[in-house]
Amino acid sequence: MTVLRTIEECRAWRARAGVLALVPTMGALHAGHLSLVAEAQRHAHQTLVSVFVNPTQFGPREDFNRYPRPIEDDLALCQNAGVDAVFNPAADDMYSAGPRAFIDMPDLTGVLEGKHRPGHFQGVCQVVAKLFNIVQPQVACFGQKDFQQLRVITAMAEALNFPIRIAPCPTLREADGLAMSSRNRFLTTDQRARALSISRALFFAMETFDSGVRVASRLVTIMQRTLLDVGNLGHVPLSIDYVACVDPLTLKPMEQIDGPAVCCIAARVGDTRLIDNVVLGA
Ligand code: PAF
Repeated sequence: MTVLRTIEECRAWRARAGVLALVPTMGALHAGHLSLVAEAQRHAHQTLVSVFVNPTQFGPREDFNRYPRPIEDDLALCQNAGVDAVFNPAADDMYSAGPRAFIDMPDLTGVLEGKHRPGHFQGVCQVVAKLFNIVQPQVACFGQKDFQQLRVITAMAEALNFPIRIAPCPTLREADGLAMSSRNRFLTTDQRARALSISRALFFAMETFDSGVRVASRLVTIMQRTLLDVGNLGHVPLSIDYVACVDPLTLKPMEQIDGPAVCCIAARVGDTRLIDNVVLGA
């Protein structure tokens, strides 16, 4: 496996590679990321994983500084997974001192994460577009756990004619249902138990949908109630950022679910912000 530390090294490596799949990550890799790697390997002869904690997608009061950066562990995981190259640039290589450029996808970012994290998707689109231009992959793999990100990137690739297929990859869950996330490592045992109410709420919404309920507000109420049901974990704070049932293409809130829909939750458990979703009627 080759470790590429600069854009120049990455471009030189790419020029010699064949059909290539990119797995963009911010590191702190877990089994969810490795499933993206496995998907990438199904699509291309070679796989490149980028590991870069992108400063421009974090707000001033967000967790950029405490975001985990276990690069040696990440490299070992990539090596074991048969990754061909890891691109791990420095921030000042990715962002030179010149005038800044952003990409705005306003039709898709006024809701959910975009509403609660102003500027987040401008930063995500900026770094993903840069990675697309530097790595020039044929395929790029993104997880469905970041549902809005997947939708925004797919739309960006289409709108800006990147010749790159965006491959969606299903959310991986722990045995008890918690969606895998690099931020789970911040949770104490009690917080982790409290965080389980997020996947529980989503599964409850899915069961309710499967039983025939099509009124979105009923599903939202069920999810909110499940999230706020503290059980014996009343001492562990959980605050809801949003609970929504949206159209998977427009991301607009739905009233009557007459096609596919996505139930989305963002909540803070202690200082840790978690997101998760389930797709209904796919
Ligand atoms: O999903 C992530 O880890 C990041 O948002 C991404 C796509 C690597 C861009 O920094």
